[in-house]
Amino acid sequence: MRTLEDISLMQQACSSAPKPLIFVPTMGALHQGHASLISHARKRAGENGTVVVSIFLNPKQFHVAKDFDLYPRTLQADQVLCKKSGADVVFSPCVKEIYPLDSSIKVVEGELSGNLCGASRPGHFSGVVTILTKLFNIIAPTHAVFGEKDWQQLIIIRRLVRDLHFPIEVISHPTVREEDGLAMSSRNKRLSKTERKVACKIYETLREVRARALNGESDTSVLLDFARKGLMTIPEATIDYVEILDEQRLQPLKKLAPGTTVARLLVALNIGETRLIDNIALPPQPSPPPPHDQHETSGLRNEY
Ligand code: PAF
Repeated sequence: MRTLEDISLMQQACSSAPKPLIFVPTMGALHQGHASLISHARKRAGENGTVVVSIFLNPKQFHVAKDFDLYPRTLQADQVLCKKSGADVVFSPCVKEIYPLDSSIKVVEGELSGNLCGASRPGHFSGVVTILTKLFNIIAPTHAVFGEKDWQQLIIIRRLVRDLHFPIEVISHPTVREEDGLAMSSRNKRLSKTERKVACKIYETLREVRARALNGESDTSVLLDFARKGLMTIPEATIDYVEILDEQRLQPLKKLAPGTTVARLLVALNIGETRLIDNIALPPQPSPPPPHDQHETSGLRNEY
């Protein structure tokens, strides 16, 4: 495995790399969730393809300086994890090369970025799509892998790829969880022991809501109320958002109705100082059987 920092060397390496070239973008502080994305990329690339991982802590997607400062930096351990998981090349450029001092172009997504994390983290998704545009241009991958934990990010990236005509297949990977269900995240390291213990209640609540939906509750206001109450039992938790949305358009749904696209429950909350997000798909409700008497009437009509 090679690590490259220089953009032009990276461009050269990628243009001659055997295809498929599968790209896993990261901001470092890698954990088993990332390992799973990289291993998945390795499987998809096969023995003859190429797996590239970028490690770049992107300042443009943090609107609170403290959040950026607190983000763990663990490059050496990250490289070990990349190698073990099957990466061929790690790209870890420096901020100055990615964003020259007089750089003046940014990418803005205008429809899917306004709610959820976009509402509480202004500029965040512009930072994400700007860095990905740069990385896609440098690496020119055939495929790119993203985790489903950052659901809104995943949907926005699909839109970026479609709207800017990147010839890239976006592969989504299910959220990787700790044994107690907590979604793996670099931020989990910031939780105190007691916070970490109660954080599993997030996924527990998501599953309880899903169970209610499976039992036939289709009114999203009832489900949302239940979700909020569950999350509010977590000590030191402050909720940012709890939403049930059409999982593709990210628009609110009143009912889990048959024929609509799948709904998704998405939550963000702070436990103490640490912001955590998670989500779960909610099943569409089965179509109701045709009304009984209508059936009979049409039967009668046939007889006559
Ligand atoms: O999900 C992340 O780690 C980041 O948002 C990404 C996609 C690597 C862009 O910096």
